[in-house]
Formats: sequence, structure tokens, C-alpha cells
Amino acid sequence: MIKSVRLRITLWYAAALAVTLTLFSLLVYNSLRNSLNDNIDQLLAYRGEGVADALEAYLETERIEVGRASGSAAKGGAFYKIAPDLVRLHAEDPRQAAVDLRILDASGRELESSGGQLAPELPERSRRDALRGNAAYDTIRIPGDNGQEVTFRSYSTPASGPRGAVYIVQAYRPTYYTQFALRNLRLMMALLVPLIVLLTGAFGMFFAHVALRPVADMARAMRQITAENLSLRLTPPRSRDEIRELADLFNAMLGRLEGSFLSERRLIQDVSHELKTPLTILKGELEVALKKARTAGEYAAVLQSNLEETEKLSRLVEDLLTLARFDNREVRLERSRVDLEALLRGAADRLKGLAEKAGVGIEVSAARPAPAAEGDAAQLGRLFLNLLENAVKYSRPGGKVRAEVLAGDGEAAVRISDEGQGIPAADLPHIFERFYRADSSRSSAGFGLGLAIAKSIAEAHGAALKAESAPGRGSSFTIVFPQLPRRPAA
Ligand SMILES: Nc1ncnc2c1ncn2[C@@H]1O[C@H](COP(=O)(O)OP(=O)(O)OP(=O)(O)O)[C@@H](O)[C@H]1O
Ligand SMILES: [Mg+2]
Repeated sequence: MIKSVRLRITLWYAAALAVTLTLFSLLVYNSLRNSLNDNIDQLLAYRGEGVADALEAYLETERIEVGRASGSAAKGGAFYKIAPDLVRLHAEDPRQAAVDLRILDASGRELESSGGQLAPELPERSRRDALRGNAAYDTIRIPGDNGQEVTFRSYSTPASGPRGAVYIVQAYRPTYYTQFALRNLRLMMALLVPLIVLLTGAFGMFFAHVALRPVADMARAMRQITAENLSLRLTPPRSRDEIRELADLFNAMLGRLEGSFLSERRLIQDVSHELKTPLTILKGELEVALKKARTAGEYAAVLQSNLEETEKLSRLVEDLLTLARFDNREVRLERSRVDLEALLRGAADRLKGLAEKAGVGIEVSAARPAPAAEGDAAQLGRLFLNLLENAVKYSRPGGKVRAEVLAGDGEAAVRISDEGQGIPAADLPHIFERFYRADSSRSSAGFGLGLAIAKSIAEAHGAALKAESAPGRGSSFTIVFPQLPRRPAA
């Protein structure tokens, strides 16, 4: 297997070029050979027929003139005088150089010839053809002077004399002129085709190298990127091509990876931090209690305090587990029609103690008729509880918390608003993040996970959770449920 893309592309390209060029050369060669051969054949026929016609015309006039005096035209007449003239005349024709002519009698005996000793015999088959009145082409090979074979192309045609006498005119020409030209062409092609393929292959290799250089640069840069320096980025090539797109996409992917990597890291830090405080308190109290013998009352107080810290710890672990399960999509929602107002009242009931202690009143109301919504009742109950708990927690004594079910245009919404301290504008975009608490002193009880869980529940339902706040005057959180497909009226 060839590992380099560069080499593979070049080889494929060169192979394609070699095949195309070879086919092209064969085509050119064949058509040239055919046209050269046709040319010779036409030339030979033209010459042969010319002499045959002249001979026939001569024989005809001789028959008329000599016929009266009786006697064979061939033997007695001036035939032997005219025949050399005929062949010489044609052989000297400057347009038709290199064609030789012969006149044979019916038995194939040569009567006259314009050529030298090197002349092809007329094949027997063509002689018989001529006697039957037909012309014929032949390719004839004879041994040449230097022992090499010489190939001739020959055309033979009959010329009829008086009283059935038949002469055969043969025009012939050695084929080495065309063979020589064709051999040269073959040689040139055999040299040129591989040379062109090699040259273009080399150029192709070079251009592929230039085109792929950014890929090599990128690969080098990628090797430097590890979990410890995820902030490194590739330098995208200046061109606006696929490689640039790849580099941009890779950088964007690195950005996302870095983001989630950093948030995981921060999460671990936050979790450790939140675990540390209750564990330190637990440890400290136990150590103090164990220093000397205590009364039963003192032990009970320590255990009570330990229990509170332990409850805090288990709540933290539970909240983290809930978030992790939402992240991993392990939470399966039991969807059904839900009564939003009833869910709000249930949550408000559970917060009654806390609200009373804080001196905050909770008011639940709903639009009539109640808008339809679907979801997991237990999860939605938890979402409302988290929002209501915040509203109570961050209210001033005597404040009022409002929980309303709203009906929009076919949509259902729930709004929970308070008249509490509000959320500073700088904190508002972050309050749904894990462990984020706007209260920088962290004096309030809680881990900063309540809203993160609320958001996960809302997202799992396809609902939008939005926060608005006027610092000092209160905050309001709105959940807008997705529109339900209309059900046919019962
Ligand atoms: N109704 C609100 N009024 C004012 N600030 C709020 C309100 N709701 C949330 N916040 C701010 O947003 C932060 C995040 O809220 P979130 O419910 O996630 O955490 P928490 O209430 O501090 O702790 P937890 O809910 O885990 O017990 C809070 O610490 C608080 O500063
Ligand atoms: Mg909360």
C-alpha cells in the first residue's frame, strides 16, 4: 500500500496519462498508415489504368488500320515500338515518381518494363483475375540486393486487344518510403509517450507537494497539541480552499474541546471546594469532642451538628449525581399531561416552613382555562421547588413571592417572581452555571446547583427558562413550555 497521498495521486495521474497518450498515438499511427496506403493504391491504379487505356486505344486504331492488311497486331504491328514509349512516358511523369510499369502478355511474360531488375513477379492469382477482366492489388515481398526483403505494392489491370488478345499492365512501387515514415513515427511515439508521462509525473509530484505543504505544516502543529496546551491553534493557510476550511474546523473543534475541558476542570475544583468545608467542620467537631470525656448533652450537640453537615454533603452529592445523569441523558422522563397549578401548589406547600421562617408569603395563581402542558410531574415539581426556594431565600422579610401559570398563544408558561434583592446585571448571564452564586460572600446556604438542575430539567422538556431581574426590586424566572400539537375536540 502506498502511504503518501502525493505519490498516489501522481501515479494515478501518470497511469491515466499513459493510457490516454498510448490510445491517441495508436489512433494517429493507424490513420496515417491507412491514408498513406490508400494514397499508394490510388496512385498505382491511376497509373496502371492510364497505361491500359492508352494501350487499348492504340490497339484499337491499329486494328482498324492494319486489320485490312490482316496479321496479328501484337506481332506484326508497331506494338513493340509503342510499348516502350508508353511505359517510359508514364515513368517519366514527374508527378508520379517511384512508380514502375510493366506490360505483360496473357501468359505473364514481360513484354516491356520501365523498372530495373528488382521487379516483383505478378502473382498467378492476379494474372488469372486479369484474364477474367478484373484488376487486382497485391503486396509482394522479394529478396533485395543486400539480402534484405523488399516489399512492393502492385496493381494489375487487363488491356484487351483485338481478337481476344489480352495484355496485363502492372504498376508497382516499393513500400519502403511509407514504411520508413511509419517506422520513424513509431520510434518517436515510443520515445515521446514515456518521456511525456515521466515529465508530467514529475511536475505533478511537485505541484502535489506544493498543494499539500499546508497539510504537512498542520500535521506538525497538531503533534504539539496535548491536554496541557489545548489553547494552541493551527495557523490556517492563507488560501481559501478545502485545507483552510479543514484548519478552521479543527480550530473550532479545539475551541469546543478546550471549553469543555476547562469547565470539567473547574467543576472538579468547585466540587472539591464544596466538599472541603463540611468535611473540615465534621473533622474539627469530632476531634474537639474526643479530646476529653463529655456529657451526654454535649455529645448529642456534636452529633446533631455532624448530622447537619452530613445532610449537606449528601445533598451536594445527590445534586451532582442528578446533573451528571442529565448530562449523560440517563434521565428518562415519564411524560404525561400535567396540572401546572397543582405542581406549583405542591412545591409551595413544601416550602411553607422556610417561607414562614423568612416571613415571606407565597401566592399561587393560574390562568383560566388552565393551559395544557406535558411533562414529567416529579421533575417539573423539582424545577418549581428550586425556583420557589430561591425566591423565598433571596426575598426580604415581609416580601411576597408570586407563582403564576400563564396561558400564551397555545403555550403554557410558569412565572415565579419575587420582590427580593435581585441579581446584579453582571451575574445574570452566569446564574445557571454550576456552583455559580451571585452572592460573592457565599453567606447564603446552598451550593449554586439549584438553577443548573432547573435548567437541565427545562431543557429535557424542550422548555425555555429565562431570568429577568431588577437589582434591589426583585427577580422573575419564566419557563415557557413548547406548544402541544392540537388534539381533536372530544
Ligand atoms: N430569586 C433570586 N433572587 C436573587 N438572586 C437569585 C435568585 N435566584 C438565584 N439567585 C442567584 O443565583 C445564584 C444561583 O442560584 P442557585 O439556585 O443555582 O444556587 P443557590 O440557590 O445559591 O444554591 P442551591 O440552589 O444549590 O441551594 C444564587 O446564589 C443567587 O445569587
Ligand atoms: Mg437555589
